[in-house]
Amino acid sequence: MRVGLLTGGGDCPGLNAVIGAAVRKGINHYGDEFVGFIEGWRGVLENTTVPLTLESVDGIITKGGTILRTSRTNVRKIEGGLEKCAANIKANKLDALIAIGGDDTQSVTNALIQAGVPGVGVPKTIDNDLNGTDVCFGFDTAVSIATEAIDRLHTTAEAHNRVIVCEVMGRDAGWIALTAGVAGNAHVVLVPEKPIDLDHVCKLLKYNHDHGKKYGIVVVAEGAKLPSGGQATVGGKVDSFGHAQLSGVAAALAEAIEKKTGYETRSVNLGHTQRGGTPTAYDRMLATRYGLAAIDLVHKGDFGRLVVLHGTKIESIPIAEAISKNRTVDESFLAILDGLEPKV
Ligand code: F6P
Repeated sequence: MRVGLLTGGGDCPGLNAVIGAAVRKGINHYGDEFVGFIEGWRGVLENTTVPLTLESVDGIITKGGTILRTSRTNVRKIEGGLEKCAANIKANKLDALIAIGGDDTQSVTNALIQAGVPGVGVPKTIDNDLNGTDVCFGFDTAVSIATEAIDRLHTTAEAHNRVIVCEVMGRDAGWIALTAGVAGNAHVVLVPEKPIDLDHVCKLLKYNHDHGKKYGIVVVAEGAKLPSGGQATVGGKVDSFGHAQLSGVAAALAEAIEKKTGYETRSVNLGHTQRGGTPTAYDRMLATRYGLAAIDLVHKGDFGRLVVLHGTKIESIPIAEAISKNRTVDESFLAILDGLEPKV
Protein backbone atom coordinates (compact mmCIF):
# COMPACT_ATOMS: atom_id res chain seq x y z
CA MET A 1 0.00 0.00 0.00
CA ARG A 2 1.00 3.65 -0.38
CA VAL A 3 0.42 5.41 2.91
CA GLY A 4 0.53 9.15 3.67
CA LEU A 5 1.56 10.49 7.08
CA LEU A 6 1.29 13.92 8.64
CA THR A 7 1.70 15.63 12.01
CA GLY A 8 -0.66 18.55 12.73
CA GLY A 9 -1.27 21.12 15.49
CA GLY A 10 1.22 22.03 18.22
CA ASP A 11 4.27 19.77 18.23
CA CYS A 12 4.57 17.20 20.97
CA PRO A 13 7.37 14.92 22.22
CA GLY A 14 6.79 11.45 20.73
CA LEU A 15 5.64 12.47 17.23
CA ASN A 16 8.78 11.02 15.69
CA ALA A 17 8.32 7.75 17.56
CA VAL A 18 4.86 7.33 15.97
CA ILE A 19 6.24 8.06 12.49
CA GLY A 20 9.18 5.69 13.00
CA ALA A 21 7.06 2.80 14.25
CA ALA A 22 4.40 3.09 11.52
CA VAL A 23 7.02 3.32 8.76
CA ARG A 24 9.12 0.44 10.11
CA LYS A 25 6.21 -1.96 10.50
CA GLY A 26 4.66 -0.78 7.23
CA ILE A 27 7.81 -1.43 5.21
CA ASN A 28 9.12 -4.50 7.03
CA HIS A 29 5.84 -6.36 7.54
CA TYR A 30 3.48 -5.13 4.86
CA GLY A 31 5.80 -3.95 2.05
CA ASP A 32 4.30 -0.42 2.17
CA GLU A 33 5.63 2.80 0.68
CA PHE A 34 5.32 6.04 2.69
CA VAL A 35 4.80 9.67 1.73
CA GLY A 36 5.21 12.32 4.44
CA PHE A 37 3.30 15.60 4.12
CA ILE A 38 5.29 18.61 5.32
CA GLU A 39 3.77 20.90 7.99
CA GLY A 40 0.48 19.11 8.63
CA TRP A 41 -2.57 19.92 6.54
CA ARG A 42 -0.65 22.73 4.83
CA GLY A 43 1.50 20.05 3.17
CA VAL A 44 -1.58 18.20 1.95
CA LEU A 45 -3.12 21.44 0.66
CA GLU A 46 0.06 22.54 -1.12
CA ASN A 47 1.20 19.01 -1.98
CA THR A 48 4.61 19.33 -0.34
CA THR A 49 5.85 15.83 0.37
CA VAL A 50 8.91 13.86 1.33
CA PRO A 51 9.45 10.10 1.00
CA LEU A 52 9.70 8.29 4.32
CA THR A 53 12.10 5.35 4.28
CA LEU A 54 13.74 3.04 6.81
CA GLU A 55 16.83 5.27 6.57
CA SER A 56 14.96 8.54 7.13
CA VAL A 57 13.22 7.26 10.27
CA ASP A 58 16.26 5.53 11.73
CA GLY A 59 16.93 6.75 15.28
CA ILE A 60 14.25 9.47 15.28
CA ILE A 61 12.53 7.93 18.34
CA THR A 62 14.88 9.91 20.60
CA LYS A 63 14.13 13.29 19.05
CA GLY A 64 11.55 15.90 20.06
CA GLY A 65 9.62 17.98 17.52
CA THR A 66 8.63 16.26 14.29
CA ILE A 67 10.74 15.41 11.23
CA LEU A 68 7.65 16.31 9.15
CA ARG A 69 7.25 19.68 10.88
CA THR A 70 3.75 20.91 11.71
CA SER A 71 1.27 23.77 11.42
CA ARG A 72 -2.15 24.79 12.66
CA THR A 73 -3.49 25.15 9.08
CA ASN A 74 -7.27 24.72 9.06
CA VAL A 75 -8.09 23.68 5.50
CA ARG A 76 -11.81 23.84 6.29
CA LYS A 77 -11.47 27.62 6.60
CA ILE A 78 -9.89 27.85 3.12
CA GLU A 79 -12.25 27.92 0.14
CA GLY A 80 -12.01 24.59 -1.66
CA GLY A 81 -9.40 23.47 0.89
CA LEU A 82 -10.87 20.07 1.69
CA GLU A 83 -11.43 19.29 -2.00
CA LYS A 84 -7.85 20.29 -2.81
CA CYS A 85 -6.54 18.03 -0.01
CA ALA A 86 -8.63 15.10 -1.25
CA ALA A 87 -7.36 15.69 -4.80
CA ASN A 88 -3.71 15.79 -3.68
CA ILE A 89 -4.13 12.59 -1.68
CA LYS A 90 -5.49 10.98 -4.86
CA ALA A 91 -2.70 12.49 -6.99
CA ASN A 92 -0.13 10.85 -4.69
CA LYS A 93 -1.93 7.52 -5.30
CA LEU A 94 -2.35 6.99 -1.57
CA ASP A 95 -4.36 4.04 -0.30
CA ALA A 96 -4.52 5.51 3.22
CA LEU A 97 -3.61 8.52 5.34
CA ILE A 98 -2.42 8.47 8.96
CA ALA A 99 -3.00 11.82 10.69
CA ILE A 100 -1.19 12.35 13.98
CA GLY A 101 -2.75 15.19 15.93
CA GLY A 102 -5.16 16.49 18.54
CA ASP A 103 -8.83 17.40 18.21
CA ASP A 104 -8.27 20.17 15.63
CA THR A 105 -6.19 17.96 13.33
CA GLN A 106 -8.61 15.06 13.75
CA SER A 107 -11.62 17.28 12.93
CA VAL A 108 -10.04 17.73 9.48
CA THR A 109 -9.26 13.98 9.23
CA ASN A 110 -12.92 13.32 9.99
CA ALA A 111 -14.13 15.77 7.34
CA LEU A 112 -11.85 14.15 4.74
CA ILE A 113 -13.04 10.68 5.73
CA GLN A 114 -16.59 11.84 5.11
CA ALA A 115 -15.41 13.02 1.69
CA GLY A 116 -14.18 9.48 0.96
CA VAL A 117 -10.51 9.64 2.05
CA PRO A 118 -9.40 6.43 3.83
CA GLY A 119 -7.89 7.87 7.01
CA VAL A 120 -6.97 6.83 10.54
CA GLY A 121 -5.89 9.00 13.47
CA VAL A 122 -3.30 8.95 16.25
CA PRO A 123 -4.00 11.08 19.36
CA LYS A 124 -1.38 13.69 20.21
CA THR A 125 -1.36 16.52 22.70
CA ILE A 126 0.63 17.44 25.76
CA ASP A 127 -2.67 18.75 27.18
CA ASN A 128 -4.00 15.15 27.48
CA ASP A 129 -7.49 16.44 26.75
CA LEU A 130 -8.54 14.26 23.82
CA ASN A 131 -11.75 12.39 24.54
CA GLY A 132 -11.76 8.58 24.46
CA THR A 133 -8.14 7.81 25.31
CA ASP A 134 -6.70 7.48 28.80
CA VAL A 135 -3.40 9.10 27.81
CA CYS A 136 -2.01 11.05 24.85
CA PHE A 137 1.73 10.75 24.23
CA GLY A 138 3.61 13.97 25.04
CA PHE A 139 1.74 14.47 28.30
CA ASP A 140 4.25 12.50 30.37
CA THR A 141 7.17 14.50 28.96
CA ALA A 142 5.42 17.84 29.57
CA VAL A 143 4.60 16.81 33.15
CA SER A 144 8.21 15.71 33.77
CA ILE A 145 9.57 19.04 32.51
CA ALA A 146 7.03 21.03 34.56
CA THR A 147 7.70 18.96 37.68
CA GLU A 148 11.43 19.51 37.41
CA ALA A 149 10.87 23.25 37.00
CA ILE A 150 8.56 23.33 40.05
CA ASP A 151 11.18 21.45 42.10
CA ARG A 152 13.65 24.19 41.21
CA LEU A 153 11.20 26.97 42.10
CA HIS A 154 10.92 25.63 45.66
CA THR A 155 14.54 26.37 46.54
CA THR A 156 14.66 29.87 45.10
CA ALA A 157 11.24 30.77 46.57
CA GLU A 158 12.34 29.47 49.98
CA ALA A 159 15.66 31.34 49.87
CA HIS A 160 13.81 34.64 49.34
CA ASN A 161 10.66 34.02 51.42
CA ARG A 162 8.62 34.50 48.26
CA VAL A 163 5.50 33.17 46.69
CA ILE A 164 6.10 31.99 43.11
CA VAL A 165 3.18 31.42 40.76
CA CYS A 166 4.05 28.99 37.98
CA GLU A 167 1.91 28.85 34.80
CA VAL A 168 1.73 25.61 32.84
CA MET A 169 0.02 24.69 29.55
CA GLY A 170 -3.11 22.61 29.08
CA ARG A 171 -5.58 24.94 27.39
CA ASP A 172 -9.04 24.29 28.95
CA ALA A 173 -7.91 21.18 30.83
CA GLY A 174 -5.96 21.08 34.08
CA TRP A 175 -4.16 17.74 33.59
CA ILE A 176 -0.64 19.17 33.42
CA ALA A 177 -1.24 21.58 36.34
CA LEU A 178 -2.82 18.88 38.50
CA THR A 179 -0.19 16.20 37.84
CA ALA A 180 2.92 18.40 37.92
CA GLY A 181 1.49 20.44 40.80
CA VAL A 182 0.91 17.38 42.97
CA ALA A 183 4.19 15.72 41.94
CA GLY A 184 6.08 18.97 42.53
CA ASN A 185 4.53 19.44 45.99
CA ALA A 186 2.95 22.79 45.13
CA HIS A 187 1.12 24.43 48.00
CA VAL A 188 -1.73 25.52 45.75
CA VAL A 189 -2.85 24.00 42.41
CA LEU A 190 -5.35 25.83 40.22
CA VAL A 191 -7.11 24.27 37.24
CA PRO A 192 -9.65 25.56 34.68
CA GLU A 193 -12.24 23.07 35.93
CA LYS A 194 -12.63 24.93 39.24
CA PRO A 195 -13.07 28.72 39.58
CA ILE A 196 -10.18 30.43 41.39
CA ASP A 197 -11.15 31.64 44.86
CA LEU A 198 -8.50 34.27 45.63
CA ASP A 199 -9.43 34.44 49.33
CA HIS A 200 -8.98 30.69 49.65
CA VAL A 201 -5.63 30.78 47.77
CA CYS A 202 -4.35 33.48 50.14
CA LYS A 203 -5.60 31.56 53.19
CA LEU A 204 -3.68 28.48 52.02
CA LEU A 205 -0.51 30.53 51.55
CA LYS A 206 -0.97 32.15 54.97
CA TYR A 207 -1.51 28.74 56.58
CA ASN A 208 1.77 27.64 55.06
CA HIS A 209 3.49 30.78 56.26
CA ASP A 210 2.16 30.29 59.80
CA HIS A 211 3.28 26.66 59.86
CA GLY A 212 6.98 27.13 59.32
CA LYS A 213 7.23 27.59 55.54
CA LYS A 214 7.81 31.24 54.76
CA TYR A 215 7.37 30.66 51.05
CA GLY A 216 4.72 29.34 48.71
CA ILE A 217 4.47 27.63 45.33
CA VAL A 218 1.29 28.07 43.30
CA VAL A 219 0.83 26.09 40.07
CA VAL A 220 -1.82 27.45 37.74
CA ALA A 221 -3.10 26.10 34.42
CA GLU A 222 -2.94 28.64 31.59
CA GLY A 223 -6.69 28.24 31.00
CA ALA A 224 -7.78 28.80 34.62
CA LYS A 225 -10.32 31.60 34.91
CA LEU A 226 -9.05 34.77 36.55
CA PRO A 227 -10.73 35.86 39.80
CA SER A 228 -11.90 38.92 37.82
CA GLY A 229 -13.50 36.57 35.27
CA GLY A 230 -12.39 35.10 31.93
CA GLN A 231 -9.08 33.61 30.81
CA ALA A 232 -5.82 35.56 30.40
CA THR A 233 -5.15 35.89 26.66
CA VAL A 234 -2.61 37.61 24.44
CA GLY A 235 -4.45 40.62 23.07
CA GLY A 236 -7.47 38.53 22.06
CA LYS A 237 -5.40 36.59 19.45
CA VAL A 238 -6.99 33.35 18.18
CA ASP A 239 -5.56 30.57 15.99
CA SER A 240 -7.14 29.24 12.78
CA PHE A 241 -9.27 26.81 14.81
CA GLY A 242 -10.63 29.67 16.93
CA HIS A 243 -8.63 28.96 20.10
CA ALA A 244 -7.51 31.99 22.09
CA GLN A 245 -3.74 32.34 22.69
CA LEU A 246 -3.60 31.81 26.45
CA SER A 247 -0.93 33.45 28.58
CA GLY A 248 -0.65 35.69 31.61
CA VAL A 249 -2.78 34.09 34.32
CA ALA A 250 0.27 33.60 36.58
CA ALA A 251 1.36 37.23 36.29
CA ALA A 252 -2.16 38.49 37.05
CA LEU A 253 -2.53 36.13 39.97
CA ALA A 254 0.90 37.01 41.39
CA GLU A 255 -0.08 40.68 41.47
CA ALA A 256 -3.38 39.90 43.20
CA ILE A 257 -1.72 37.61 45.77
CA GLU A 258 0.99 40.16 46.63
CA LYS A 259 -1.64 42.88 47.04
CA LYS A 260 -3.82 40.74 49.29
CA THR A 261 -1.18 39.03 51.45
CA GLY A 262 1.75 41.43 51.42
CA TYR A 263 4.02 38.46 50.56
CA GLU A 264 6.59 39.24 47.89
CA THR A 265 5.38 37.32 44.84
CA ARG A 266 6.89 36.44 41.45
CA SER A 267 5.47 34.63 38.45
CA VAL A 268 6.95 32.36 35.81
CA ASN A 269 5.39 30.96 32.66
CA LEU A 270 6.94 27.64 31.58
CA GLY A 271 5.44 28.04 28.10
CA HIS A 272 6.90 26.06 25.21
CA THR A 273 9.73 24.52 27.25
CA GLN A 274 7.03 21.96 28.16
CA ARG A 275 6.73 20.87 24.53
CA GLY A 276 10.39 20.93 23.55
CA GLY A 277 13.19 18.41 23.69
CA THR A 278 13.47 14.70 23.93
CA PRO A 279 10.46 12.53 24.94
CA THR A 280 10.43 10.44 28.12
CA ALA A 281 10.76 6.66 27.80
CA TYR A 282 7.03 6.35 28.62
CA ASP A 283 6.08 8.65 25.73
CA ARG A 284 8.47 6.91 23.31
CA MET A 285 6.86 3.57 24.16
CA LEU A 286 3.25 4.80 24.01
CA ALA A 287 3.88 6.64 20.73
CA THR A 288 5.55 3.52 19.27
CA ARG A 289 2.54 1.39 20.23
CA TYR A 290 0.20 3.97 18.64
CA GLY A 291 2.26 4.01 15.42
CA LEU A 292 2.20 0.20 15.15
CA ALA A 293 -1.54 0.09 15.86
CA ALA A 294 -2.23 2.80 13.26
CA ILE A 295 -0.54 0.90 10.42
CA ASP A 296 -2.38 -2.26 11.51
CA LEU A 297 -5.72 -0.37 11.31
CA VAL A 298 -4.81 0.72 7.78
CA HIS A 299 -4.18 -2.89 6.72
CA LYS A 300 -7.41 -4.07 8.32
CA GLY A 301 -9.22 -1.36 6.33
CA ASP A 302 -10.56 -0.01 9.62
CA PHE A 303 -10.78 3.61 8.49
CA GLY A 304 -12.35 6.52 10.39
CA ARG A 305 -10.86 5.34 13.66
CA LEU A 306 -8.40 6.72 16.19
CA VAL A 307 -5.98 4.49 18.10
CA VAL A 308 -6.39 4.96 21.85
CA LEU A 309 -5.09 3.67 25.17
CA HIS A 310 -7.63 2.01 27.47
CA GLY A 311 -5.94 0.90 30.67
CA THR A 312 -2.88 -0.91 29.33
CA LYS A 313 -4.44 -1.95 26.00
CA ILE A 314 -4.23 -0.17 22.65
CA GLU A 315 -7.69 -0.12 21.07
CA SER A 316 -9.49 2.16 18.62
CA ILE A 317 -12.60 4.38 18.64
CA PRO A 318 -14.40 6.38 15.93
CA ILE A 319 -12.58 9.70 15.31
CA ALA A 320 -15.99 11.41 15.52
CA GLU A 321 -16.29 10.26 19.15
CA ALA A 322 -12.82 11.58 20.04
CA ILE A 323 -13.54 15.06 18.72
CA SER A 324 -17.06 15.31 20.15
CA LYS A 325 -15.84 16.90 23.40
CA ASN A 326 -12.71 17.59 25.43
CA ARG A 327 -11.61 15.39 28.31
CA THR A 328 -11.24 17.65 31.32
CA VAL A 329 -10.22 16.92 34.91
CA ASP A 330 -13.13 15.17 36.60
CA GLU A 331 -14.32 15.11 40.22
CA SER A 332 -12.26 12.04 41.12
CA PHE A 333 -9.04 13.84 40.18
CA LEU A 334 -10.14 17.16 41.74
CA ALA A 335 -10.61 15.17 44.95
CA ILE A 336 -6.82 14.60 45.01
CA LEU A 337 -6.30 18.34 45.47
CA ASP A 338 -9.02 18.50 48.07
CA GLY A 339 -7.52 15.56 49.96
CA LEU A 340 -4.09 17.18 50.14
CA GLU A 341 -5.26 20.66 51.22
CA PRO A 342 -5.19 21.72 54.87
CA LYS A 343 -8.52 22.92 56.30
CA VAL A 344 -8.27 26.72 56.34
O1 F6P B 1 -2.44 22.28 22.51
C1 F6P B 1 -1.15 22.26 22.99
C2 F6P B 1 -0.72 23.60 23.42
O2 F6P B 1 0.61 23.42 23.81
C3 F6P B 1 -1.56 24.27 24.52
O3 F6P B 1 -1.25 23.77 25.78
C4 F6P B 1 -1.21 25.72 24.33
O4 F6P B 1 -2.24 26.55 24.78
C5 F6P B 1 -1.04 25.83 22.87
O5 F6P B 1 -0.71 24.55 22.38
C6 F6P B 1 0.04 26.79 22.44
O6 F6P B 1 0.01 26.89 21.07
P1 F6P B 1 1.09 27.61 20.19
O7 F6P B 1 2.29 26.71 20.11
O8 F6P B 1 0.43 27.77 18.87
O9 F6P B 1 1.44 28.89 20.86
